[in-house]
Amino acid sequence: MAAVNVLEAKGLTKIYGGVEANVDVDLHLDQGKITALIGPNGAGKSTFVGMISGRIAPTRGTVYFKGRDISQLPAHKRMQLGMAYTFQITSIFPGLSVYDNVALAAGLRLAHDKQAHDAKVHAVLDRIGLDDRADQTAGDLSYGHQRVLEIAMGLAQEPEVFILDEPTQGLSETEVDAFIALMKSIAGETTILLIEHNMRVVAALADHVTVLDQGRVLASGTFAEIHANDAVQAAYLGSTPHA
Ligand SMILES: Nc1ncnc2c1ncn2[C@@H]1O[C@H](COP(=O)(O)OP(=O)(O)O)[C@@H](O)[C@H]1O
Ligand SMILES: [Mg+2]
Repeated sequence: MAAVNVLEAKGLTKIYGGVEANVDVDLHLDQGKITALIGPNGAGKSTFVGMISGRIAPTRGTVYFKGRDISQLPAHKRMQLGMAYTFQITSIFPGLSVYDNVALAAGLRLAHDKQAHDAKVHAVLDRIGLDDRADQTAGDLSYGHQRVLEIAMGLAQEPEVFILDEPTQGLSETEVDAFIALMKSIAGETTILLIEHNMRVVAALADHVTVLDQGRVLASGTFAEIHANDAVQAAYLGSTPHA
């Protein structure tokens, strides 16, 4: 069976004044697969995420969701289609409880069957190991737990496409291990775009890797292919500690 492109970017370009943040970036996400987007700081990864999520208007280029051109749709409409994100800067509601953060993300407050939805929030919290902290104020959680909570908020939306911008940044090795296990359990259910610096995570999770450098796609392939690529080694991997 041919792979289905859930999300596809064609020729995505963003020029800020003289800065070429993204130039003619082509990328597609295969259904149920994990695609990693890697590259040095300033390569344009977050700009790319901003454009596919509808938060940054491209200079030119097109974004397709299941073959439909969604380039003109605002971010909230894209979320309604089934796209969820976690951002490089953690964006939880610090004054609310852990439970309410997840409930809000799922839109459960508006729902009728309270019991079923309550069970769902707890199921998500349980899955990511935060159920015993459901009543805690989110802002009081450790940084690692706040990042995990943000992932829970994404999962609660039951997204078709889940985009995570450097989710393991600042996590301990143990927390990174837990993240890898969680992503493995999600893979297949949802299509994942993972922006990641930690090569141990990329090696463990990515079905496909695309490398950005100076706003352009430098290489694309399996982790092994990327790792063996001389241009990638020179531009990025050679200077990055990795397992
Ligand atoms: N709002 C902005 N205005 C001007 N330049 C920007 C803006 N956002 C990003 N850039 C520039 O675009 C380039 C790509 O940035 P970014 O997408 O954040 O890279 P990455 O996420 O790979 O580190 C960098 O040179 C950055 O300085
Ligand atoms: Mg970034």
